[in-house]
Amino acid sequence: MKKYLVIGNPIEHSLSPKLHNYWFEKNNIDANYDRKKIDKSEIQEIITEIRENKLDGINVTVPFKTDVIPFLDTLSKESQITRSVNTIYKQDKKLIGHNTDIKGFELSLKETQFNLENKTIFILGAGGVVPSIIYALEKLGTSKIIVSNRTKQKTENLKKYFSNISVVDWGDQPEFDMIINATSLGLNKEDNIDLNFKNINKKKLFYDVIYNPKETNFLRAGKNLGCQVSNGKMMFIYQALEAFKIWHKVEPEINEELKKLLDL
Ligand code: ATR
Repeated sequence: MKKYLVIGNPIEHSLSPKLHNYWFEKNNIDANYDRKKIDKSEIQEIITEIRENKLDGINVTVPFKTDVIPFLDTLSKESQITRSVNTIYKQDKKLIGHNTDIKGFELSLKETQFNLENKTIFILGAGGVVPSIIYALEKLGTSKIIVSNRTKQKTENLKKYFSNISVVDWGDQPEFDMIINATSLGLNKEDNIDLNFKNINKKKLFYDVIYNPKETNFLRAGKNLGCQVSNGKMMFIYQALEAFKIWHKVEPEINEELKKLLDL
């Protein structure tokens, strides 16, 4: 039986095991997917288990997506540019790190049918997932990406890798076509982002990377303005789907039964 793991801290709420184990059953794959809470000091040991064939693949989540990099042999182009690895596998005796968050974000955007060409995107946050979001947005032909983060220094770091982005102070609200909440504000139901969202027309897209709760105050504000809204549910599912495709060479199905199972 093949064995897979998602590592992170915290990890209790990860829905990845449910999702992958559902797909194993549907596709008659003899495998198991588990979750493991680890400390940074345990990363090397866990990754060695893939080298020794005790494990067949690892998903990496917050806060270790960059920390795992020194223990891998090769990075995909996507992981190199974003300094972020969420999927690890072995190929020709080499441990490879890849980033499926980019494709996950991209495919979730496709589902919104929002036309991003020549659009201005305003990103709130500069944490672990933001390089993946910027990478995908640049590929999709957006014309301007503006980032705002409470700790401004972090946006300066982002600029080293993505020189075309603009930065505004936390609390400032520039003109935009699409706004993305990539902060952790909203994980608690009562969290509010201190922007007034006045003078915003209905043609905007409000996108929240958070999928639990399903509707953050940020998304509710967008909805109340009559704007299109999307939470991070499909990004989560698609990043898993891309990892599944790499590991098993099978494209699993996303259906209503699955969404019900995940209760997303
Ligand atoms: P990390 O910053 O370790 O990568 P993350 O979960 O990927 O963690 O990112 C959390 C994001 O939410 C950051 O952009 C963070 O802003 P800071 O860089 O200033 O910490 C943002 N965030 C978290 N709590 C916030 C708050 N109360 N107000 C504004 N932004 C907040």
